[in-house]
Amino acid sequence: MYLRHLQLGSFRNWDRVDLALQPGPTVFVGRNGEGKTNLVEAVGYLATMGSHRVAGDGPLVRQGASQAVVRAALRREDRELLVEIEINPGKANRVRVNRAPLPRPRELLGLVKSVLFAPEDLVLIRGDPAERRRFLDDLLVSRTPRLAGVRNDYDRVLKQRNALLKTARMARGDALATLDVWDGHLVDLGGQLLAARLRLVADLAPHMARAYAEVAGADAAVAALGYASTVPLAGDGTPVGEGTGLPTAGELSVALRERVAERRSDEVDRGMTLVGPHRDDLVISLGSLPAKGFASHGESWSLALALKLGCFALLRADGDEPILVLDDVFATLDADRRAALAAVARGAEQSLVTAAVLDDVPAELRGTVVQVAGGQAVPLDPQAAEDGAVREEVP
Ligand SMILES: Nc1ncnc2c1ncn2[C@@H]1O[C@H](COP(=O)(O)OP(=O)(O)OP(=O)(O)O)[C@@H](O)[C@H]1O
Ligand SMILES: [Mg+2]
Repeated sequence: MYLRHLQLGSFRNWDRVDLALQPGPTVFVGRNGEGKTNLVEAVGYLATMGSHRVAGDGPLVRQGASQAVVRAALRREDRELLVEIEINPGKANRVRVNRAPLPRPRELLGLVKSVLFAPEDLVLIRGDPAERRRFLDDLLVSRTPRLAGVRNDYDRVLKQRNALLKTARMARGDALATLDVWDGHLVDLGGQLLAARLRLVADLAPHMARAYAEVAGADAAVAALGYASTVPLAGDGTPVGEGTGLPTAGELSVALRERVAERRSDEVDRGMTLVGPHRDDLVISLGSLPAKGFASHGESWSLALALKLGCFALLRADGDEPILVLDDVFATLDADRRAALAAVARGAEQSLVTAAVLDDVPAELRGTVVQVAGGQAVPLDPQAAEDGAVREEVP
């Protein structure tokens, strides 16, 4: 799939932008702070209804405006879809597809498939487990949109249950009886989420390992993925092998229920839910060591890149051609990794690349260049792009 047109209103620093796009690579070039990342952030928002930079929607709305609008014409095979999102921080967002409002905005998830790689992705290797859980769940929902509801319901049940545990600490008794009801929801939804994550990790691992070998070279250590769970049946973080049998959602629910029962008194003491997918982690390892705390800076970068290229390959293997978004990454890659990434970007149905300095982007991707400056995004003809007008480095 590819975006044929992107329009933003009051999104980040953009008052209004209207941009026709083509399949193949497009480079957005311009000085620091002109709004290149903001443009591709909007593309990411179409796919995940979230930003890769901030947790909430508030910062996405232009200062002084009350709502932002992202509107895109999406080409999928020979069909065209018009997607419109109204971002209303603090209130419900509104989404329309082909002018028909969606009853629930989250029904959009899974429609626009894109994979975004940005410097922020280093937190996937070095950051907290929450970053990796969000990564897994976003990919999960992109592949299986139905799971957006499961994830949502799980979060809601978790909140309610935590609130109840807090009161149970003060006044054991009544609250504990109600807790049993919430336990039922927790283990049911938790089992589904766990099963889906395990399937995903098993599916992603071979693609990620292959991408790492391509990025880091064939003689580099082998990259692997594992799932470390608060529910022992769901995994202890050891790398998943191909073809290993996975427990079912039902089996995982039973195992989660057992753990919940075992930890009941700890949970009451601490006033929060201590077991379940919200406490788990994706373990990324290199050779025999976990990446977090061990991998070098360069290795961490390669792992983050391989994780994203693994997503790209997985979505593609599912039968969807995702849009590849590369935000400000070429400048920080060495020649080999640059070449590996350029080859993938070249082969994508559409890739959107941002850079402050055009020379940092491999020549094979510089077909369509859009200059971002002064609140405008203007396509340059290829010769003007090559003339060096936009090449000076801005500190
Ligand atoms: N909600 C907002 N309202 C107005 N301006 C905003 C908002 N959010 C961000 N900005 C502005 O957008 C600019 C940053 O844009 P962006 O991150 O897209 O830059 P960039 O072109 O990617 O730069 P770089 O080359 O440094 O990565 C900043 O100047 C910031 O102040
Ligand atoms: Mg940027």
